[in-house]
Amino acid sequence: MLDIVVLAAGKGTRMKSDLPKVLHPVAGRPLLQHVIDTARLLNSDAIHVVVGHGADQVKACCTAGDVHFVLQAEQLGTGHAVQQAVGHLRDNAVVLVLYGDVPLIQENTLRSMIAQVNADAMALLTVDLRDPSGYGRIVRDGGGAVTAIVEQKDASPAQLSICEVNTGVMAMRGVDLKRWLPQLSSENAQGEYYLTDIIALAQAEGMLVNTQQPASEMEVLGVNDRQQQAQLERFYQQNLARSLMTEGLTLLDPARFDCRGRLSAGRDVIIDINCLFEGDVRLGNNVSIGPNCCLKNVVVGNDVVIKANSVLEDASLADDCEVGPFARVRPGTDLQRGAKIGNFVETKKALIGPGSKVNHLSYVGDAEIGSGANIGAGTITCNYDGVNKFKTEIGDDAFIGSNTSLVAPVKVGKGATVGAGSTITRAVDDNQLSVARGQQRNKDGWKRPTKTK
Ligand code: UD1
Ligand code: CA
Repeated sequence: MLDIVVLAAGKGTRMKSDLPKVLHPVAGRPLLQHVIDTARLLNSDAIHVVVGHGADQVKACCTAGDVHFVLQAEQLGTGHAVQQAVGHLRDNAVVLVLYGDVPLIQENTLRSMIAQVNADAMALLTVDLRDPSGYGRIVRDGGGAVTAIVEQKDASPAQLSICEVNTGVMAMRGVDLKRWLPQLSSENAQGEYYLTDIIALAQAEGMLVNTQQPASEMEVLGVNDRQQQAQLERFYQQNLARSLMTEGLTLLDPARFDCRGRLSAGRDVIIDINCLFEGDVRLGNNVSIGPNCCLKNVVVGNDVVIKANSVLEDASLADDCEVGPFARVRPGTDLQRGAKIGNFVETKKALIGPGSKVNHLSYVGDAEIGSGANIGAGTITCNYDGVNKFKTEIGDDAFIGSNTSLVAPVKVGKGATVGAGSTITRAVDDNQLSVARGQQRNKDGWKRPTKTK
């Protein structure tokens, strides 16, 4: 049985922000959400999150049935914070304490800690830091047993030189925790109830404190300021880049890759520099993405080329499509097999049929285009009358001349041709030619006006 307590009531003064610290993001996800997501992997019976500073905001951001919030109205220390959750913890469960501002802790590390807890032992995650300043120091006796944690502000000069520090992550039986918490006192340099003081209590009872270190220091680094946030962001991205490359993805420069969500890729996918992936992005086989592209919630088929500086969101691209450079593919765009969207083209709620091309400088919104159509440069679907949106339908193999305005609602039939520069306001039937523009008049010997005095 496992109960998890996540401490997230602190203010995070050093962020210098109106947003509660645990809501600041790493890889597009709030710090606290990372911790909750990892906690979930442990299949605990409950995840209790202690909130205080900005409690309402924090609660609103992390709504999920398996998360239970506990309010710590005044932040009187980490021990006091855990105390607030104590009524919800079961005696015979292992209680795992996590920090809401330590986002990159790994499932494996936590699993092996939990396994170290028994009737005679609790578990503590420690780490050796080159610069231990600010952290609680791990004090050991001559035999190497942990006897106490001493906070920086309470430490003697000798203790300050200890480089093994408390990560804050610990696990113990509920019954033991409940016996120790009421014994904490706030008589220390910060006037706080330190959770860390339970170590000395455990030791006094003759209980063993099993320690363990994480595989990487980054797992236990907290975010207290913007620099640390940026540092963990880079670490996260580099790790993700590495694992994607291991699975066969080509990243032309893994240091210039960002994913704030989930990315999956088939075989022989190449991603050029400075691309950003958000939400859920799925790429098929043989996909090539040029530099400086942003993809958010996009599903891409096989053999697709997305050229430089294209921005795609909530869209799906079937096999053999080509997009960009400089394309803006907005929500509701559905590119069917072999469709092509060229430079400076914006699409929105648009179905572009198989093999159809919108190659240059166009806006296609609220539109349905059949197969094999060619939409000339500068074509605009005028979908908005200032109040409502209307649909444009273009049939298979239609040819829309350059600089055409299609005033929706309007239909252009199959195989129809629209002359360049037309403003189409009425339906064009199948196979018709429509030219809707001022007639060209040519006058011989035209004299330009001369300047009058
Ligand atoms: C704490 C540990 C220190 C450890 C360090 C690791 C104590 C007394 N000290 O110090 O040994 O090296 O973490 O990062 O535990 N929180 C609450 N309510 C409170 C106080 C804190 O929920 O009343 C939460 C914070 O939001 C944060 C976590 O507990 O998520 C840690 O609090 P923080 O003030 O950052 O602890 P440190 O002083 O860094
Ligand atoms: Ca502190």
